Amino acid sequence: MSQTGDGVPTPDVANSNEGGGLWGGRFKEGMAEAMIPLNRSLGVDFRLWPQDVRGSQAWVNALEGAGVLTLEEGATLREGLEAVASRLAGGEGSGADEEDIHTLVEHLLQEEVGPLAGKLHTGRSRNDQVATDFRLWGMGASRALEDEVTGALRALLELAKAGLDLIIPGYTHLQQAQPILAAHWALSHFWPLLRDRDRIRTAWEEASVLPLGSGALAGCPFPVDREMLRKELGFARVSENSLDSVSDRDWAASMAFAGALLGTHLSRLGEDLVLFSSREFGLLRLSDGFSTGSSLMPQKRNPDIAELVRGKSGRLVGNLTGLLTLLKGLPTGYNRDLQEDKAILFDTVDTALLVLPAVRGAIEGAVRKGVPFRESHEVVGKVVRLAEEEGVLLSDLPLQSFQATHSAFLEDLFESFSWERSISARSVPGGTGPVAVREQLRQALGAVEA
Ligand code: ARG
Repeated sequence: MSQTGDGVPTPDVANSNEGGGLWGGRFKEGMAEAMIPLNRSLGVDFRLWPQDVRGSQAWVNALEGAGVLTLEEGATLREGLEAVASRLAGGEGSGADEEDIHTLVEHLLQEEVGPLAGKLHTGRSRNDQVATDFRLWGMGASRALEDEVTGALRALLELAKAGLDLIIPGYTHLQQAQPILAAHWALSHFWPLLRDRDRIRTAWEEASVLPLGSGALAGCPFPVDREMLRKELGFARVSENSLDSVSDRDWAASMAFAGALLGTHLSRLGEDLVLFSSREFGLLRLSDGFSTGSSLMPQKRNPDIAELVRGKSGRLVGNLTGLLTLLKGLPTGYNRDLQEDKAILFDTVDTALLVLPAVRGAIEGAVRKGVPFRESHEVVGKVVRLAEEEGVLLSDLPLQSFQATHSAFLEDLFESFSWERSISARSVPGGTGPVAVREQLRQALGAVEA
């Protein structure tokens, strides 16, 4: 058998459809008409071309080191791959009728360097190749996600700073329960997102394991230096087991989970924004750029940003379910089902990258307007002024005076003396007392830059 292809010495047990047209010789008939579009993944995996070229460059070096390629062959292939990369960067190939990005790169390389291109696939299989490309992409994607989450975290911190002296009702069962600082509410959305960022970082670490050198399933039959490959491609570790390595998508599941929980958190924030921006709650106002109006009902100011975020979270949760269902019950080794993993994780990352900048902008806009939490702030101001005018403690004001100021949440308030006193009493670490919240903000500021 040829040394190109999957590099497994017994062709009958190897994945027979390896290496583009390489398996063509075994079959009398071409691929069925109905099979072609189902088989093709180029539309989805085209975006992996930078990773595919990078992995291929590293593989050329590894084959050279193992004595499989001469220095001259290596140089020609490296130059050829450079040329392929600039063609792909120029937009060529996205609509090609190649099966996937791996066969497309190989095909273009053939156009550049001729039959020598076939040698690139020596000892490598699309199984370890796609696992490598996908992980490289996942590592980049998790960094991009991390940056966007950090942006949203910083916006929440600014919102918290602006709410350090504003009192709003705190809810349980969506019933007004105890007064809290607006900053405390903003920070209650900060910490879940911070944990999401940790999960995204963990997913990066899980992704950072090199599969290349695993071959189709049993390992590469040539003495390639996997440690050198690891360093060159920027992975933290080398996979321990070739058979596991070609089908391990745990990192992708971790990333999909991080995305699903991020979506869950953002949808809860979205729900708060929908409620708080309503006339009934009147606690904040979203900027024009993130709201829509209605020509028929001019009083309306729809919190579309918050609703879209809430809605998009459904996809993120669905993608996790889809990926786990895809992985469940697969027999050992690579199975073609795995081709579906990419569309799922791409959607999770694309969705999160779409939603996060808008969330950030909406939060920043709510601050910049300068009128968040207007109503409750006003009410507090009025009662405090009233108490001052009458020369009494806030807690000694009669109920009627409170009710004359504002009809909302006043019975609870009277029971707990005053909002200020209720809040100040809660100075335990993590509580809503002003000193505790300032300390919390300090911790949050430190954590976000860590
Ligand atoms: N397009 C395939 C995928 O995304 C590449 C691997 C194909 N391997 C194979 N043995 N047919 O999973």
